[in-house]
Amino acid sequence: MSNEMGKILVTGGCGFIGSHTSVLLLKLGYSITIIDSNSNSSPKSIKRITEIASMESIVLENKISFHHGDLLDYKFIENVFDIENSKFNKINYVIHFAGLKSVKESTNYPINYWDTNLVGTINLLKVMQKNECKNLIFSSSATVYSHKEKEFISEKDPLKPSNPYGNSKLAIESFLRDVYESYNENWRIACLRYFNPIGAHPSGLLGEDPCGIPNNIFPLINNVASGQKEFLEIFGDDWNTSDGTCIRDYIHVMDLAMAHIKTMELINSEKPQYLIMNVGTGIGTSVLELIKTFEKVNHLKIPFKITSRREGDFKNVVADNSFSYSLLKWKAELSLEDMCRDGW
Ligand code: UD1
Repeated sequence: MSNEMGKILVTGGCGFIGSHTSVLLLKLGYSITIIDSNSNSSPKSIKRITEIASMESIVLENKISFHHGDLLDYKFIENVFDIENSKFNKINYVIHFAGLKSVKESTNYPINYWDTNLVGTINLLKVMQKNECKNLIFSSSATVYSHKEKEFISEKDPLKPSNPYGNSKLAIESFLRDVYESYNENWRIACLRYFNPIGAHPSGLLGEDPCGIPNNIFPLINNVASGQKEFLEIFGDDWNTSDGTCIRDYIHVMDLAMAHIKTMELINSEKPQYLIMNVGTGIGTSVLELIKTFEKVNHLKIPFKITSRREGDFKNVVADNSFSYSLLKWKAELSLEDMCRDGW
């Protein structure tokens, strides 16, 4: 299967989800090309990916290459396709992770967010089209929903992001739908709406390592655990939930990586289509439950203080994952304990 699928271009392959997906692709015998600007990731990820591969006795000859550059640079993407397609194995699939992802930052720098996320994707699609590469998996987010405080959010629920980051993700989904509908005989496109990916590769060699101060809860818990931060702020304990703290659907990043590969194999085996899928476990966990589980499996204490609610936060964001589970014939396997252990 892996050879007939050609080479897979992973944009943002040095980042959190991109690097874990790259490791899994190599493990399953796929050839990959990673591109990354390293604006919010480290080029060291490439070394880590190859270290894990050699620990797992994966033969890497001709299986991985890396190009440092930005999707805003059209010539750079053209060049990558030219170089890679002149080798024995052409780029046939793109898994597109590259993009800016901080909600808070996006409200301060909307032009930057729209430019990087949308223009970067348009450049990518132009070069893909030119090279007859029409298979794409796009990294979207549950942030596109309007969050009506439902118990489980399904793909059919109303969409209304509340920040520029979310707006840019939804705009890319619409752009990709337009592309598919205009040439629907030949594009295979899937948008995966992630819930809350956490955890890390079990080797401990890869993880979530954003440049600068993290905003998301898991890297912040790690910072408290390692002593870099004195305590975790819990944003409100007066929500209408069992313990008063917010509920999220945390999914192990290795399960999320597998969801990409299952999606790629699915769209490869079917006629051209445009798919939208939630990727989550469907299990809600409160902030306090997450902290308690982290403390229990790692045998340490996470000091915290209850502070006021974060502006624009949501009480409950959990996936209705019935569509992805039935379509992919796959389900997330790793538990919250696994996420907390591997992530630390
Ligand atoms: C956030 C973004 C979302 C984005 C996602 C993944 C918002 C409103 N949403 O989701 O658009 O797709 O990240 O990058 O920013 N928490 C604390 N203390 C902290 C940090 C977080 O109590 O210091 C709580 C939050 O209230 C929330 C949970 O932890 O209940 C998870 O927060 P976070 O990791 O920021 O993710 P989301 O809010 O789900």
